[in-house]
Amino acid sequence: MAESPIVARLRAAGCVFAEDEAGLLIATARSPEELDAMVERRAAGLPLEQVLGWAEFCGLRIAVEPGVFVPRRRTEFLVEQALLLIRGDSILPDPPGPVIQGEPLGTVARPGAIVVDLCCGAGAIGAALAAAVAHAEVYAADVDPAAVRCARRNVPGHVYQGDLYQPLPALLRGRVTILAANVPYVPTGEIAFLPPEARAHEPRVALDGGPDGLDVLRRVAAGAPDWLAPGGHLLIETSERQAPLAAAAFEASGLTPQVATSADLSATVLIGTLEQAAQSVAADKAR
Ligand SMILES: C[S@@+](CC[C@H](N)C(=O)[O-])C[C@H]1O[C@@H](n2cnc3c(N)ncnc32)[C@H](O)[C@@H]1O
Repeated sequence: MAESPIVARLRAAGCVFAEDEAGLLIATARSPEELDAMVERRAAGLPLEQVLGWAEFCGLRIAVEPGVFVPRRRTEFLVEQALLLIRGDSILPDPPGPVIQGEPLGTVARPGAIVVDLCCGAGAIGAALAAAVAHAEVYAADVDPAAVRCARRNVPGHVYQGDLYQPLPALLRGRVTILAANVPYVPTGEIAFLPPEARAHEPRVALDGGPDGLDVLRRVAAGAPDWLAPGGHLLIETSERQAPLAAAAFEASGLTPQVATSADLSATVLIGTLEQAAQSVAADKAR
């Protein structure tokens, strides 16, 4: 059977999954003109999700505008880990723990849970946790105005613009149950090796983590004890290679670190827990 012209155009532009992509573009376009424009933009190299205007994440459609970081499927593992922690399952081994394999979870209920999605981008993590945790209060923040605009469409909660913790309301200090932060973590010297879709169409501020990729992670870890509730958790995605240094940064900030990995999603998440005593020290310092 002859290939459709759209599939042929996408394939010629180097799209490996041209047939699947054509199906999604056809299903999303509202007119032949719009479809033509979408195929054109995809063939020019824009990430599929930015062309469609949405990305699938934890079963949700997350609105993604051009120029905003596209939520990755591997980050669903961070959401799974957060849900395990919110549900109170103590499947996490005592530190220094071995690697944990993640299991998908359903909805959990935790009245009074406060969730913060820091460096939220389009707000995929915050949206997924809001959908999965009944009665949670959800807050999100990002430095990039385009990301914040997107997150306001996706997160049923409060979304702020600014540098890390600076825009969050002070009333959250010492009360956050889950602080999720998928920060930029690509080492500056490795940005040139990213796929062109990311390099050309996602903002540098969403990718560049400094010389070893951990600049933003260190800042987030250092600030976390001021914001976490006693027993609260900070979750940050890293690469497997970065995990030992990231764990050291968590420890230096007074958080008890554990590493969780998913072979299926090629994901590594650092989980830092604020023990009761450490929280009192942070509160004293803040006074
Ligand atoms: C890797 S992207 C992740 C976005 C989103 N969390 C996700 O998983 O799809 C990192 C995000 O961090 C934001 N960011 C970088 N530096 C920041 C800072 N100093 N304060 C707040 N947000 C920052 C970027 O704008 C970008 O949206």
